[in-house]
Amino acid sequence: MLARLYEAFDPIDVESVAAFVYWLAESYGLRGRLRLLDMGCGTGRTLPSFTALGWSVTGMEPNTQLASRPEIVVGGFADLNEQNTYHIVTAINGPYSYLLARADRLDALSRVHRALLAGGIILLDVWNFIAALRHYADPPPVEKVVGGQHVRLQREHIFDFHHATISQVETYNLPDGSHHTLTHTLAILTQPQIAAELQDAGFDDIRTFPGYASRRPAPVTGSQMLIAARVP
Ligand SMILES: C[S@@+](CC[C@H](N)C(=O)[O-])C[C@H]1O[C@@H](n2cnc3c(N)ncnc32)[C@H](O)[C@@H]1O
Repeated sequence: MLARLYEAFDPIDVESVAAFVYWLAESYGLRGRLRLLDMGCGTGRTLPSFTALGWSVTGMEPNTQLASRPEIVVGGFADLNEQNTYHIVTAINGPYSYLLARADRLDALSRVHRALLAGGIILLDVWNFIAALRHYADPPPVEKVVGGQHVRLQREHIFDFHHATISQVETYNLPDGSHHTLTHTLAILTQPQIAAELQDAGFDDIRTFPGYASRRPAPVTGSQMLIAARVP
């Protein structure tokens, strides 16, 4: 149920994600039957669109409540032990932000670096929280019909100013009085910080994009940061 609620209330256009990643791979000189790992794939909703590109696709996700497809490997960045295996590792819609400590992010990037083939690329899709500062307000409740039921989602933001994290507590209220709660604690990250972390982990040729419609590198301008880099 949680997987269904998550997909309904946090929709993404999986086709435009796949079209962008296909273009990105080509722009880094990667072609043919590529091997892709989608890290933090959630319910695995992106996987069919990547497979439709003719690629060999693996999804990894640590939250067993979300991972709804049998082909998803249970685990997160810290469980990635493969070497020289993938052409592309993606982390779509925020998984990198769940790594709260710099040491965990560097460990994650080193593991991705090892798991990629030479010339392979990483794509991090990260929420640019500082863009929200301009018009920041507590998120209002949202209502949707999911599987014929009226569901009301309430989101609460809790800030930890010392550790620079934001916890989003999501409560899905169902008409029968039951509820499901999902808490996401995210590091508040900036573009220069992520670029430095990629360099520290040995990546080069860092390129940024403001969204999935981009077809050339450009500065980040809003609440989404797409940051790609290559294994030399
Ligand atoms: C906002 S969801 C995005 C899910 C999916 N990529 C999508 O676009 O539908 C962020 C995902 O990151 C996962 N995540 C949390 N900690 C992680 C970690 N240490 N390594 C990898 N993924 C993690 C969460 O469980 C969640 O599924």
